[in-house]
Parts: sequence; C-alpha cells; structure tokens
Amino acid sequence: GITGAERQYSAEDKQSIREAAAILAGGGTVAFPTETVYGLGADARNTSAVEAVFAAKGRPADNPLIVHIADREQLAEFVTGVDQAAEALMDAFWPGPLSLVLPVRAGVLSERVTAGLDTVAVRMPAHPTALALLRAATCPVAAPSANRSGRPSPTTAAHVREDLAGYIGGVLDDGPTGVGLESTVVQVQPDGTVAILRPGGITAERLAAVPGVVVTPPLSGGGEAAGGPEADAGNSPAPRAPGMKYTHYAPQGSLTIVSGSSQQRVAAQAAALLQAAQARGEKTGLLLFEEHLALYPATAAGCIVSLGSLNALEEGARTLYGALRRFDEAGATYILAEACPEAGLGAAIMNRLLKAAGGSVIGTD
Ligand code: TXA
Ligand code: MG
Repeated sequence: GITGAERQYSAEDKQSIREAAAILAGGGTVAFPTETVYGLGADARNTSAVEAVFAAKGRPADNPLIVHIADREQLAEFVTGVDQAAEALMDAFWPGPLSLVLPVRAGVLSERVTAGLDTVAVRMPAHPTALALLRAATCPVAAPSANRSGRPSPTTAAHVREDLAGYIGGVLDDGPTGVGLESTVVQVQPDGTVAILRPGGITAERLAAVPGVVVTPPLSGGGEAAGGPEADAGNSPAPRAPGMKYTHYAPQGSLTIVSGSSQQRVAAQAAALLQAAQARGEKTGLLLFEEHLALYPATAAGCIVSLGSLNALEEGARTLYGALRRFDEAGATYILAEACPEAGLGAAIMNRLLKAAGGSVIGTD
C-alpha cells in the first residue's frame, strides 16, 4: 500500500474518530462517510498527503478537490472573500450537499488541491461522523469521493474497501450514505448569478428558491451538465467543474440509456435490444424505475435493478451507484438504463447516468 496498512474504524466509538483524526494530522489518508458519498480525506495544506489521495484514486492531477470544513469560521484561513449570494447559499444549505467555488487565499492550501486554479471548492457536510472527524482533525480536509477514478462513487464502506484497500490509511465505517450522489457544485458569477458546475444533492429548484439567488440557465442538467463528450465543446454558458470532462462512474459492461416520451415504446425497444444481446451471448443488465417493471418480461435481463419510484427520486439517487456496482458483480456486459425526467434530483441522476454511459443514448420518439 501507499500509505501503509488499511484499518477499519467504527464511527460508534469516539476512539475511532480520534484515531482517524490523528492519521489526518500525521499526513495520512482516511476514508469517511458524508451525507452524499464516502470521501477520501487528507490535510488540505499538506502536499504529500494530498498526493497520496491522487495516487490512491488514480486521479488526474488537473482535477481539483473539494475542501471540507466543520465550521464557517475556518473559511477565512484559506478563502479571500464570500459574496452575498454565496453567503445566502451557505445560510440556506450548510451543512449539506452543496459545494461553493470561492476565491482561494494563496499559500495556505496545497496547490495540488486546487490544481493551480485561483479558486477552491468548499463544503460543510451534513453528517455527524464527518463533522466530528473534521472538528477533531481541526485542519481543512480535502476529500474527493473515495473510489478508484472511473468507478462509481462509494456509498458504503465496503465499496471503499473494494476500490482502495491497501492504498489508504483507514476507513471510518458508519453505514450507507443518505443522499447517494455527490454534492452540487456552484460558483457565483461576476454578474452575481449562480452557475451550477455539477448537479447534485441540492436541486436547481431549491437553489433558485433562495431569496436573492438567480441561477444561471439552464436550470436543469440539460446540455450544460449532460456530461457527454459534446458537453466539452466550450459553448456552455457556465464554466464547468474540471472533473466533469472525465468519464466517471463507468460500469465494466457497456451501458446505454433508452429514452422517449412513451414508456411502452421505451420498454419494447429495450426488451428487444436485450433479447438480441442475450442471443449473441451477452450477460445483460436492466436499470429501470419501479412503475415500469410490469412492462418487461421477467426474463428481460439477467440482472434487473429498480431505482424505485419516479415519484420519489431520492431513492433512485441513493441507490444508483450501488446498482451500477451490482451490474459489475453480475458480470453484465450489456446494460440498458431507463432515462428519467430532469426535474429536481432527476437532473443529477441523469447527469451521472449519462456519464456512466459515456453519452450513449437511444431515443425512441
Ligand atoms: O459530495 C461530494 O462532493 C463528495 C463528498 C466526499 O464530499 N466529494 C466529491 O469530490 O464528489 P470529487 O473530487 O469526486 O468531485 C469534486 C468536483 C469535481 O468535479 C471537481 O472538478 C470540482 O468538484 N471542483 C473542485 N474544485 C473546483 C474549482 N476550484 N473550480 C471548479 N470545480 C471544482
Ligand atoms: Mg468523484
């Protein structure tokens, strides 16, 4: 391993939090739960600690990390200013799944954290174990999702161990995460409007509902945040998070999204494609919403996973990454996924699905 033997800690006992904080203070790496996904933490001021995070993940160096804090007073140490709209968003959503890109103070954080940008993404997680660890560590903690680069983000400690065992200092285990998708990353633009760089746990609708906050269109995932190759063309109205250009969350099999205005047509098309795939010897997978289960034959695919109801997308968000990992475990080589409307959490779900699919979509209209 890169940073020594991996150890498993339980969040229940305070001693575990102290030991995990001591690893961070000593320049090591520790994975910990947040309300979104598990993060892999390191002291954001310590370049060799941050480099160990990049090495464990196999993460490209030009993709900056989010810095986690437990207390808003920590901001002044490494951020030069917080404008009104950013302040309003912190008031509304911190602690919570919202990361704000703010002007960074030079010379405090490792430049590896910001990938040389003059900004830093910051968030205060709404998870008691994360907050206890951050308080005990006292330092700003850089923490990307605790997965190997290109794998689905981890929503359990077991996912972290699958990807990173032997490469990190330890895992603070506190069960499955709640939101299941990463934080929304936003940046206040020079004109005072708020741009969504990455859709996530806080929906565009909730951001726009904050008095004084104007969200830069497009509100939903749409073209700007779709994450397919075309999204890098540079014609987007908002600057995008550097990380959005990488293929993320990819299952080992090929994944294609099937979309359309008629659910009957979507299901018929998907079932036909899956049958043809089975006939040529593929191991098939199907990701769908509960309401549509009855539209498919029971043998439509070798591995069928439901994301729950379209009317309660919180469940879909919470279970999406685990579902993608299940297809890998089943050895699925050909996977189809139903699309969902891009309102509310649907924007973040479709953003991650499109990235997992490498932008591959079959329309049925
Ligand atoms: O929910 C989350 O945000 C999780 C948990 C662990 O907190 N963390 C997470 O980190 O998702 P990561 O590294 O997987 O994603 C960070 C995202 C990337 O898309 C990165 O490009 C963007 O934030 N980002 C970081 N710093 C930035 C900056 N200064 N400007 C623009 N985008 C930035
Ligand atoms: Mg990530």
